[in-house]
Amino acid sequence: MNHEIVQKPADTTANLHPSVRDRWSPRIYDPEHNLGMAELESIGEAFRWAPSSSNQQPWKLVLLRRGSELFEAIASTGLTGFNQTWAPRASVLAVVLAAKSFEGKDRDMAKTYFDVGLASSQLVTQVESMGLKAHFMGGIVPEKITELLNVSEHAVICVIAIGKQSSTEGHEDAIVARERAPRTRNSSSDVYVIDSAL
Ligand SMILES: Cc1cc2nc3c(=O)[nH]c(=O)nc-3n(C[C@H](O)[C@H](O)[C@H](O)COP(=O)(O)O)c2cc1C
Repeated sequence: MNHEIVQKPADTTANLHPSVRDRWSPRIYDPEHNLGMAELESIGEAFRWAPSSSNQQPWKLVLLRRGSELFEAIASTGLTGFNQTWAPRASVLAVVLAAKSFEGKDRDMAKTYFDVGLASSQLVTQVESMGLKAHFMGGIVPEKITELLNVSEHAVICVIAIGKQSSTEGHEDAIVARERAPRTRNSSSDVYVIDSAL
């Protein structure tokens, strides 16, 4: 089939929550789809209510809608490589930031990154539950995004493309091939054990 909305649920017989089972990272988004304020708020709140070490909440989130000045600036100058081709069609670019200091002192960034990762993952699960898709991007230009958002007190961790997944119809072979490529993981026995030492 040349046009389909690709679905790639986790290849497992385990009973997973649909938001976990069905989440994957598409690159084909509907360029006409827009998110309303209530949806943006749900996404922001999912991020805000994540757990963090000593409840320090060392994070900030900038949600930018397609068409806004900052969305377009980041889409055109803040992404690298293949991300520049597909991410501009997303409805929202969410910039994830980590605080560099706490009460005037440098933060332990290992803990900070862990906390920010938790909040980001919670955001993505919320997005999935809303019938939308999200795609993390580490292929970004942090210095450019720092300058555009004027956030030198924070480290730019990643940008998350959020939107409504769209059909492969009319898209180039290169992107369609990536959409259809199977999702792979290390085997379960390589990743976790139950009731035994590693
Ligand atoms: C921190 C992080 C950075 C990523 N950076 C990119 C990126 O720059 N471009 C891209 O296309 N995918 C990026 N990805 C997506 C991963 O390639 C993807 O999550 C992985 O291949 C597993 O596929 P799945 O999310 O569909 O299960 C990133 C994912 C994470 C978590």
